[in-house]
Amino acid sequence: MNEPLTLLGNRCPETFLAEYWQKQPLLIRDALPGFTSPVSPEELAGLCCEPEVESRLVLEQAGAAPWTVEYGPIPENRFAELPETHWTLLVQECNRYVPELAELREQFNFIPNWRVDDVMASYAPARGSVGPHTDQYDVFLIQAHGTRRWQISTDPVPDDNFLPDIDLCIMREFTATEEWILHPGDMLYLPPGVAHHGVALEDCITLSVGFRAPSHAELLNSFADHVASQLTPAQRFADPALRLQQHPGEISSDALTQVRGILQKILADDACIDRWFGEFITEAKNEYPVEEIEILDEHQFLQAFSAKDRLYRNEQTRFAFISNKTTNNTALFINGQHYPLPTELAFAAPLLCDQHQWSYVQLQSELTQPGFAKLLTTLYNHAYVYFT
Ligand code: SIN
Ligand code: CO
Repeated sequence: MNEPLTLLGNRCPETFLAEYWQKQPLLIRDALPGFTSPVSPEELAGLCCEPEVESRLVLEQAGAAPWTVEYGPIPENRFAELPETHWTLLVQECNRYVPELAELREQFNFIPNWRVDDVMASYAPARGSVGPHTDQYDVFLIQAHGTRRWQISTDPVPDDNFLPDIDLCIMREFTATEEWILHPGDMLYLPPGVAHHGVALEDCITLSVGFRAPSHAELLNSFADHVASQLTPAQRFADPALRLQQHPGEISSDALTQVRGILQKILADDACIDRWFGEFITEAKNEYPVEEIEILDEHQFLQAFSAKDRLYRNEQTRFAFISNKTTNNTALFINGQHYPLPTELAFAAPLLCDQHQWSYVQLQSELTQPGFAKLLTTLYNHAYVYFT
């Protein structure tokens, strides 16, 4: 797991994490030697026309309001109207549509899976750019086709240095501290908040392996919803020991102690926090229509698995597990669903969460363990895993 990786410029993942991750930018020449884009400009344009695909078209025009953004689905005839230069098409979650990009995402396994978001692809003709900006997340920018000039600035970005009244966080002023021209296979890692500006020098495709980091506000809102949904209306403030107060207008320290106690009791429940976080962080980003599948019983599933030989994880699902060393409990989380695993099935958690495909031969001995085939059948019937 800690072998040097070409992807990281022959650094060990541990070194990369200690020296660069969330700390400083890193340019890696030839991170993916001989890389050719697994997706073409035409395919990206086609994806932008699909209603279920999240996409944007960013145009830079001359004049007082030079930046505009149009959100997908983009009408097919829009492409014929576009100028020859100065625009960018961005398509989110391309790993869902292009198997090679799902595989590419797996190369970033040195970061916990739940931190990885998606692989975005952008296509730009010459001079295309989305403007100088900052992102709130870490990103690996991989040059897939053509060349792009990346400029970055590691100077702090004041809050008022963004253009007003547009739907894009574009910086008003940007002075590069470093710049490089990236060729196919080169990769630039940027921690959150580092200002960057990429301009296509010719027809260009850039892939962004993006990460997710929930904001404190999101965590608090989601946890509060989770806890509140489990409380009954009868659980409420009570004061049978109320004593006469000198000032009826005062909120007494007894009342405040009770309020603090209610909240502290909730926050002291580690098992509740763990379960909520597992569910929260594996929730699917977008709900997509699930293809009709034939529901199988355990016997039918095993027959199909041995015949098809390979089982794949659905790219739309998020898998993660929590193994609590103190309580010896293991829980599997898939798309916001919680599957507590009995001790004898605990082995299934890393086996299912660390890999994206499994062969029948590989799992043959595990399939004889009580409950494992049943668990896989359940995951299959939910379309979390599939055969080709
Ligand atoms: C791009 O691909 O043009 C933009 C990616 C980014 O700056 O995050
Ligand atoms: Co960016």
